[in-house]
This record gives sequence, structure tokens and C-alpha cells, in this order.
Amino acid sequence: MPAVSFQEVSKTYDTPRGAFRALDDVSFDIGRGEFFGLLGPNGAGKTTLISILAGLNRASAGRVTVLGHDVVGDYAQARKQLGIVPQELVFDPFFSVRETLRIQSGYFGVKNNEAWIDELLEELGLADKAQANMRQLSGGMKRRVLVAQALVHRPPVIVLDEPTAGVDVELRQTLWQFVAKLNKQGHTVLLTTHYLEEAEALCHRIAMLKRGRIVALDRTANLLAGTASTMLRFKTDDSLPPALAAQARVTGRIVQLKAHDAAEVETLLAALRAAGVRVEELEIGRADLEDVFIEIMQGAEREAVVQGAMA
Ligand SMILES: Nc1ncnc2c1ncn2[C@@H]1O[C@H](COP(=O)(O)OP(=O)(O)OP(=O)(O)O)[C@@H](O)[C@H]1O
Ligand SMILES: [Mg+2]
Repeated sequence: MPAVSFQEVSKTYDTPRGAFRALDDVSFDIGRGEFFGLLGPNGAGKTTLISILAGLNRASAGRVTVLGHDVVGDYAQARKQLGIVPQELVFDPFFSVRETLRIQSGYFGVKNNEAWIDELLEELGLADKAQANMRQLSGGMKRRVLVAQALVHRPPVIVLDEPTAGVDVELRQTLWQFVAKLNKQGHTVLLTTHYLEEAEALCHRIAMLKRGRIVALDRTANLLAGTASTMLRFKTDDSLPPALAAQARVTGRIVQLKAHDAAEVETLLAALRAAGVRVEELEIGRADLEDVFIEIMQGAEREAVVQGAMA
């Protein structure tokens, strides 16, 4: 039995401008003990899928189960298996951190939870804020409380929707160490993030969602192997000739170009020289998940255009 199973899930929202299809026939399973990444651009449908899993939102079609429990028909059991860290910061400002965690324990019927609450506070760097009211915390600290809150009943399936948005480097590292430890102990993890290096480092498998459809799903290693494995990186103040600009990934002064082999590297360098582009700090490296992501998203874009033209 998988930890989570999405079966032909679709979601249509009624909007003033008509029906909007946020999820279109999404099917995949997450195995027990897996660390699974769900990636996609803003508005792809990640949070919609997670809110359906959490029972906060109803699918228009399809079925979702958590360890065999239907999230609609068997809501209470399904919810109990899940620890969900929501993307939006929601909390009651009048309670202290410790009270918040106690109330959440009570909600799941967990008694005598102080030892685990202390451990969570310690692991997430909140020990000295245990008595502070939620409204006295900084944004990053509130997010830590949300993580602790999700884990208070030791759920077998942990769902993290952008847990590191707005979080400092130190907490990111502590958070990932802690979540990786829980995963090693057998907890299943479903993660969405826009930090692709986090997904690359942590996830066994990754699904990519675009406009409500799965456009890629594979082991992280296979996704990385399936793309041009070499990237040419350099800095420049000059603008690239149009043919190269069209295929480059540019971040400020940093330019990255795909090259499948040494011959392509030579061709690219020759084209740069011919265009008079001054190249600084040249290096050749492996493609990373961000390169794969961009390639897959652009591919999906082209396909959508072709399908649109045929329709
Ligand atoms: N209640 C709603 N009513 C109408 N449209 C909605 C509603 N909730 C979400 N949407 C739309 O559904 C699409 C998917 O939204 P969703 O929040 O699932 O995206 P996401 O992948 O989580 O994006 P992000 O990376 O920005 O968090 C968006 O176009 C969004 O505007
Ligand atoms: Mg979202």
C-alpha cells in the first residue's frame, strides 16, 4: 500500500471569468518511506493538490488516499496520518508557542506529549521561545512553529508546502537535518519548494507540475541524467548574440549554456568569440535540477502551443 495515492485527480474552480481547471487528471503514488518532491512554477497547482490531500479542499474528480484511507470517505483516519506544514502562515496570536503545540496535541487526542514537544522545540531552535506569544515571533520563527505543529502527533506522512520560504540559512539547515532524520526513521515526506537545490539534494523522486498537469515524474538521478549533462558557465558584461541568448540561462552577469559534449563547448566558445563577447571566470560543470526544470517547463510550453494549434 502506498503512503499517498493520487488517482485521476482534477479540480475546477468557479471564477467570475468562468471555470478554471487548476488540476487536470493527476495520478501518482508516493511509496512508504519515500522523500518525494512536487515542483512547479507559481500557480501550477501544488498547494491545491496538497489541500485536497489535507481534506481542506474537495477534488472535482478522482480519489486520494493516505495509507489506504480515503481523504473524503475516511477523513479522520486519513488526517491523522498526515502532518501538514501549510504554505500560508496561520496561527492563533493569543497562545504561546508551547500552548499552541499542546492544543494541537489535544486535537489529535495525543496525551502526555511534553517530552516530544520539548524535543521539537529543541530540534527547531524554539526552546527559548516556548513561552512567547505567537504574535511576538518573527516570520521565520512562526514558520518553525508551523513545522512543530505539523509533527506534534508523530504523523507517518509529512507534507511540507514551501517550508523554507523566508527562512534563514541556519534554520533551513536545521530543518532539513531534522526532516531527513525523520525520513530515515521511516516517515514519508512530500515536499514542495522553489529552491531546486534543496529538492535535488533531498528527494528520491520528483514530479513536475505545470498548469495542473504532471509533465515529468522520475527518480531525481534519472531526471538529472536525462538532460544535457554539461553546462558552460561564465560571467560577462556584454550582451549575447540572439541565437545564444535564446538558449542561455542568465542570472545577472552569469550566463549558463548547455553543451552535450566537448565539440559543443568549442562551438559555443567560437560563437562567443566571433560575437566579441568577453568571457570571464569560465567554468564547465554538471547540469543541475534547475537546468532540468527549465528544460522540462520549456518543453511543456512548446507542447501546449502545438496542441493549441492543432485544436
Ligand atoms: N479558491 C480558488 N479559486 C479560484 N482559483 C484558485 C483558487 N485557489 C487557487 N486557484 C488557482 O489555481 C491555480 C493553482 O494554485 P495553487 O495555489 O495550487 O498553485 P501553486 O502551485 O501552489 O503555486 P505557488 O508556487 O505560487 O504556491 C492558480 O492559478 C490559482 O490562482
Ligand atoms: Mg503553493
